[in-house]
Amino acid sequence: MRTEVTLQGLQAALSPIRLARKSIGFVPTMGNLHQGHIALVKEAKKYCDVVVVSIFVNPSQFGAGEDFEKYPRTLEADSQLLADAGCDMIFAPSVQQMYGNKPQLTTVQVNDIANDLCGKSRPDHFTGVATVVTKLFNMVQPNAAFFGEKDWQQLAVIRHLTTDLCFSIDIIGVPIVRDEQGLALSSRNGYLSPEEKQTAIQIYKTLKMVEQEVKSGQATDLDAILQRGRDYLTQQGFVVDYLEARTPDLKMVTDLGQDMVVLAAAKLGSTRLIDNLQIKCS
Ligand code: PAJ
Repeated sequence: MRTEVTLQGLQAALSPIRLARKSIGFVPTMGNLHQGHIALVKEAKKYCDVVVVSIFVNPSQFGAGEDFEKYPRTLEADSQLLADAGCDMIFAPSVQQMYGNKPQLTTVQVNDIANDLCGKSRPDHFTGVATVVTKLFNMVQPNAAFFGEKDWQQLAVIRHLTTDLCFSIDIIGVPIVRDEQGLALSSRNGYLSPEEKQTAIQIYKTLKMVEQEVKSGQATDLDAILQRGRDYLTQQGFVVDYLEARTPDLKMVTDLGQDMVVLAAAKLGSTRLIDNLQIKCS
């Protein structure tokens, strides 16, 4: 496995791979890797000849007062995990490599779906994500790119930008990896105290409660089910940002018999956690 830190180095390393007509699978990350990220790498290995993982803590997707400065940078441990998972190449550019010295005048803004859910409380977040992913797609030029369903809205935003900007890249969604208690793995779980970690599993429990009520066939009011879920999370000590149901492509759910995704974002202390659960009704 090799590590490249410049665009020139990356392109020199990828050029013989392209000439040999090998397929390139790409997994963008911000590092501090866990088994959720590794599931993406393993999926990429199944589809592609060569797997490139980027590690870049992207400043433009963090809002003022968010955790950009304290976001864990653990390149050595990440490299070990990636080598063990069979990753072929790490691309770990600096902020200077990614954005240069001049102000970034061009951004990629995905309208509509990026303004819902997380977009309401993190107004510039998805523009930061869409812009950096577009840059990374142009740098790596992969055949396929792999994203976790953990960030359902992010995955939807990436699918849209890929279609809208005519990238010839297959976007593959990978199911959420959870710990044995149901907590979705996340780099931000590292911020939680042991007590908060115990409380954090209530997010998944709430999503399962919503699922049970929706599937029971007895409830007729989705808003009331979701409100009970919000109240439950609040009782557990969360500050709820949202608990909402959407169709898989993030449209409003109009009836209880539809396939849907229930999405949650809530804060425990200063840590913001997100999770979601697909509910298949048909
Ligand atoms: P990061 O939070 O590091 O996540 C990288 C990828 O890992 C994302 O596609 C995310 O959905 C996936 N992932 C994280 N936890 C997961 C879990 N428990 N199960 C399955 N997949 C999981 O998402 C980002 O970085 C950034 O926004 C990025 C796309 C790299 C752009 O900067």
